[in-house]
Amino acid sequence: MSSSTITPWVVGNWKMNPMQADAFQLIEEFKQLLQQQEIPSERCHIGVAPTLIALTNIQAQLKDANRTIFTVAQDLSKVSGTGAYTGEVSAELLRDSQIAFVLIGHSERRELFGDDAETVKAKLHNALNADLKVIYCVGESLEQREQGVAEQVVLQQICDIASVVKTEQWQNIVIAYEPIWAIGTGKTASPADAQAMHVKIREGLKQITTWGANIAILYGGSVKAENAVELAACPDINGALVGGASLNAQSFYQIASAFAQK
Ligand code: PGA
Repeated sequence: MSSSTITPWVVGNWKMNPMQADAFQLIEEFKQLLQQQEIPSERCHIGVAPTLIALTNIQAQLKDANRTIFTVAQDLSKVSGTGAYTGEVSAELLRDSQIAFVLIGHSERRELFGDDAETVKAKLHNALNADLKVIYCVGESLEQREQGVAEQVVLQQICDIASVVKTEQWQNIVIAYEPIWAIGTGKTASPADAQAMHVKIREGLKQITTWGANIAILYGGSVKAENAVELAACPDINGALVGGASLNAQSFYQIASAFAQK
């Protein structure tokens, strides 16, 4: 399978936004846009990652959309199962609520909430063993890019998880390359830079797993309606993880539409 035959993914990462009423409105508007002009499921997978407290409400609200829209958790516990772990939500509890996707390794979790390589590995292990699909985020800081070690850092983050992913579980992984300096800053990696890193990630994945050619590699970092067409045109960018622009139904729709035309 060549990279261009991978069905693209567009996933909205809402982070700690928005209030319930606005979230409701956002989904209603997005469903309406899909009614007006359909984006066929086979052209593009679409998902949204609301806050934990809104997850099941949004999932219910999406049930009558004219196509599948996945509900994605933004995080999960490094502890599995159930038990005396105040404040935690495990992979099994997500699964029990029919949440089938989870983000792991987002740079905000790594930088602000202490998700080091060991924690990320534990979360990934739990998610995959509970049959969740994982969007695994990787990306370098500006300093690392300026030092010329961006590629090394990103490939290391991929190698970090190799020991906990069983051969057949690679099918349940999507990679999101998100250069930290491009997240929420309005600075997008140039399509050429993003494409170059995606090629390196693809090469790395192919060395680690026989499934490497089939894994979707998304780009994230200030993706908006204005740059989506250009990013979607890059052969090795198989979709987008969208933060800020996913809070606007029209922008998110346009981004999904750009990738659906890939
Ligand atoms: P951004 O965030 O699109 O607002 O830059 C992307 C992300 O952090 O997933």
